Amino acid sequence: MAQDNQQRRDHAAHSAAAAGDAARLQLIETAGFADYALLDSGAGRKLERFGSIVVDRPEPQALWSPRAPEREWRHAHAVFSGDDEEEKGRWRIDRPVPESWPVKVGAATMLCRLASFRHMGLFPEQMPHWEWMLARLAEKRGETPRVLNLFAYTGAATLLAAAAGAHVTHVDASKKAIAWAKENQAASGLTAAPIRWMLDDAAKFAAREVRRGKTYHVILVDPPKFGRGPDGEVWDLFTSLPPLMRDCAALLAPGAALVLTVYAIRASALAFDQLCREVLSGRGGSYQSGELAIREASGERAVPTSLFTRWSPA
Ligand SMILES: C[S@@+](CC[C@H](N)C(=O)[O-])C[C@H]1O[C@@H](n2cnc3c(N)ncnc32)[C@H](O)[C@@H]1O
Repeated sequence: MAQDNQQRRDHAAHSAAAAGDAARLQLIETAGFADYALLDSGAGRKLERFGSIVVDRPEPQALWSPRAPEREWRHAHAVFSGDDEEEKGRWRIDRPVPESWPVKVGAATMLCRLASFRHMGLFPEQMPHWEWMLARLAEKRGETPRVLNLFAYTGAATLLAAAAGAHVTHVDASKKAIAWAKENQAASGLTAAPIRWMLDDAAKFAAREVRRGKTYHVILVDPPKFGRGPDGEVWDLFTSLPPLMRDCAALLAPGAALVLTVYAIRASALAFDQLCREVLSGRGGSYQSGELAIREASGERAVPTSLFTRWSPA
């Protein structure tokens, strides 16, 4: 009898926890913005407009059928064809495309390019995170907010935070990415903005900042699945992320906020949610975890892009 009651209590506890977990995973979308639109998707591809340029790129998760007429796809300026897994491949130019062209993202101007690995120099799905970061910065009183942007790539978040008056530390392991980010800084008219450009391994940099007792008001972490630091340091998401997140937890100033975004197919938002809850345990606050997606301009379907966890003390 006592054993039955205990089993019933255990079962009730498990289903409550499971219901709690399920309820807290959410979908955050962007429907695009003036200079970016997802025009159509399907058959493993996506058709997007970046500023005035339309590109056709692979999208393995677009399992459904395209809706736009074939001629709209044929009208793309450039088509990327390549091996899905490795994202290797090349661009076929069907209509003239400038070497780089401006794409407005809020207060920043990003120079987009047809880059290797089908990249454009901008991840538009991150717009909801950038807006959330700006809202956290706007809440900051009394001192100039400090932002740490790890794996910062071409610097969209860096420039938006700098335009909002923050002191930003931009960390990336690639000289090319930092040079591109500095071009975007000039294109955004933010050359005087207080940005610290750090060519460094993100994990090493964060560990050093912890030893120095540094703190930040917003920390953005957007690692690749696999990467290398400037001196060949290996970044492997599943082994390198937990220690980095522990260091990021130690770098959070009172009242600070954290955004983790992960582009990894074989992973779940629940995993990153629970990691963040462990490294931030005892701090209360609120968590949001789930998936980022881009909704088609028609409003019909949404293309999933990445996983995320956001934490803020409020
Ligand atoms: C997916 S991109 C980040 C996108 C960026 N957060 C954005 O919103 O535009 C990954 C970046 O991580 C950088 N990276 C890879 N390994 C790294 C490491 N060990 N330390 C620092 N940066 C690294 C790459 O150079 C690349 O710019």
